[in-house]
Amino acid sequence: MYPQIFSAAKEVDQAFLIILGFAVFILVAVTVAMLYFLWRYDHKRNPHATDIKGSVWLEIIWTVLPTIIVLGLFWTGWTSFKAMRTIPEGAMTVSVEGRMWSWRFTYENGRTSNELVIPVNTPVRLALASRDVIHSFYVPAMRVKWDLVPGMETDAWLQSDTLGDYDIFCAEYCGLKHADMITLLRVLDQEEFDAWLAEGGAEEGEDVGLALLKEFGCFDCHSMDLSEDAAPSLLDLGGREQTVVLPDGTEKTIRPDADFIRQSVREPGATLVKGWGDEMPPYGDELSDAQLDAMIAYLLKPDRPDKGQALADELGCLGCHTTDGTDDVGPSFLGLYGSERKGKTADGKPYDLKADDAYLRRAIVEPSANVPEGFDDAMPIYDDLDQATLDQLLGYLKSLAGEGGQ
Ligand code: CUA
Repeated sequence: MYPQIFSAAKEVDQAFLIILGFAVFILVAVTVAMLYFLWRYDHKRNPHATDIKGSVWLEIIWTVLPTIIVLGLFWTGWTSFKAMRTIPEGAMTVSVEGRMWSWRFTYENGRTSNELVIPVNTPVRLALASRDVIHSFYVPAMRVKWDLVPGMETDAWLQSDTLGDYDIFCAEYCGLKHADMITLLRVLDQEEFDAWLAEGGAEEGEDVGLALLKEFGCFDCHSMDLSEDAAPSLLDLGGREQTVVLPDGTEKTIRPDADFIRQSVREPGATLVKGWGDEMPPYGDELSDAQLDAMIAYLLKPDRPDKGQALADELGCLGCHTTDGTDDVGPSFLGLYGSERKGKTADGKPYDLKADDAYLRRAIVEPSANVPEGFDDAMPIYDDLDQATLDQLLGYLKSLAGEGGQ
């Protein structure tokens, strides 16, 4: 069985084993008795069948014995159920909100998170609510699984004896991305937890808008690279033209701006990106205007390195160039920008090169022109990239420049 970290749930495992034990015992007993009867009462050994009529003892045994077994099984189930339903007094409360297709946890001090973070050895009461359809909050390591029903607050509790990260799943089929409705339960020691609870949503140095996009689970459906699965990609929103379908059914090509994004979040069904259905749940008061503005600012920020990174991934650059400083088929991107190396021109003449803007641009669209020493002329030609894409790739390389390279 999955290792178990919740002591009140030990009884759940116990009930499971007792029931399993009885089931196996009965299976074996019935099978053995059946085989014995087949052998003992076949036509050779028992040519004349006996007719037993009215046996008080047999009737008592087959009534009383199953009753005791069934009640015993009920009792083990009942005590373990009770242990898990009796929420200890003074337990810390965390509100859990499920929606298509993300989780959001709100603490008593207003701190929100998209992961459930709890202190070790502390009972935690979960107030479960759903925004849309039925979801089911499931932590296998805790043996806790409880439904979130729209229009109704349900609750459950848990407590961890051990530190660590554990999976949280949605255990009720809730639509297209049900399988991606996963997150983490992180168990910290009290001190770490207090520090976490006191700090705001964003990690140190992290953009507030990005932190909010994560917290609200936007990335559960939208990607930040060019992959599109359940929803349009959020990569470089302000830089890519999109065809949208207006409420009256006409199509229009736009470059998403702040107003468009704001409307798409508040009333997602009003104007849809062509090719996508009206599936996104609207975000109302749970998302303040200030929070939405921070998200929009992040999404529309020009030259964000992650755009270039996503492009580099998409275009296959990262298949040959690492970002950790080790050279692969091509030189590592880490510290490449601004570095000085030796190279060879297409006709084999050696020369010194500096990986500046102009050099790197040419290295992408015409790689054979100057190959750095120690590498083969193996890079495919990328002469079909437009200026905006090149700018973003360059911005990304710049962000990976070494000391003094910027
Ligand atoms: Cu939510 Cu499945």
